[in-house]
Amino acid sequence: MDLRFRIRADGPCLLIPVTSDPGGLELVEADLDGQERRSSDYRDAVAVPEELRPLLPSSFDVIGDVALIKIPDELAPYGRQMGEALVSANGSIRAVFSDSGVKGDFRIRDLERLAGSGGSETVHKEFGVRLFTDPAKVYFNPRLSSERARIASLVKDGEIVIDMFGGVAPFGTVICRLAHPEAVYSIDLNPEAERFAKMNAEKNHVDRLHPMTGDSSVLIYGLPMADRIIMNLPQIAERFLPHALARLKSGGTVHMYKIIERAEFDGFVDRMIVGMKALGHGIAVKWSELKTYSPTMSVYSLDIVKF
Ligand SMILES: C[S@@+](CC[C@H](N)C(=O)[O-])C[C@H]1O[C@@H](n2cnc3c(N)ncnc32)[C@H](O)[C@@H]1O
Repeated sequence: MDLRFRIRADGPCLLIPVTSDPGGLELVEADLDGQERRSSDYRDAVAVPEELRPLLPSSFDVIGDVALIKIPDELAPYGRQMGEALVSANGSIRAVFSDSGVKGDFRIRDLERLAGSGGSETVHKEFGVRLFTDPAKVYFNPRLSSERARIASLVKDGEIVIDMFGGVAPFGTVICRLAHPEAVYSIDLNPEAERFAKMNAEKNHVDRLHPMTGDSSVLIYGLPMADRIIMNLPQIAERFLPHALARLKSGGTVHMYKIIERAEFDGFVDRMIVGMKALGHGIAVKWSELKTYSPTMSVYSLDIVKF
């Protein structure tokens, strides 16, 4: 098709603009209206000095109708232009915020609106599940959707699942919608996480999700023994592993995420196996590299089975 022109109805026929003879259709000459082609890449539309163009980030996170973009220092004076270009290039983005990274125990972000309207509270949809969240108040990672679906696909009927660092309960909500656990306990230190997690349970008509606020290394001892424990605190999750294994049934699985230098990963796994053995826990570890985190670091997904 020749995308510079619009399709037009002509009696019982459609006149479709083409760049060459596609064969099998009647070829006619006609004057068709032109159409403006808008690029979906914001970098084509943004007004920044040419020498800074190579620094424009090629990727950004979209949570619901909100985009979060990390802006290099050199481009800081052009944040508004970048935000406006993102809104105009992506019809589904309502507002764009500059993101200076996650901080503190709650792993939340300092966000500043660059363009668009409204706040950062939004509804993110994945696998038919609606996840209410606000990245300024509680951690949320839209890039883990496949991982959430993978874990949900492993959950057998009647399992007890604990998410030790549950956030707004994206794992818990997706598991309850796609599988049939007996219960999912979603713990987080941040009270805002429990508020959103309860909203997500209600809006998705899920009654087996139990959000709670507090330190999971303490609260986990008040919960039933689990078949499956999720640990998404990838800077320091291993510190909590002894607590998880103490509350995991034999044959159960811990799903742990870890950000680490790629060169150090094998040694990390070996030390973990030896360290847990010393505490009386036999474990077998399967892992995969989930995504690149920096030129030398990656995020790993580890499935740790207790035997
Ligand atoms: C990386 S976020 C993961 C959130 C969620 N699992 C997700 O994937 O969206 C880690 C979460 O752990 C919480 N957290 C940190 N330390 C904790 C602890 N000791 N007990 C419970 N939650 C904790 C933080 O508040 C944060 O929401």
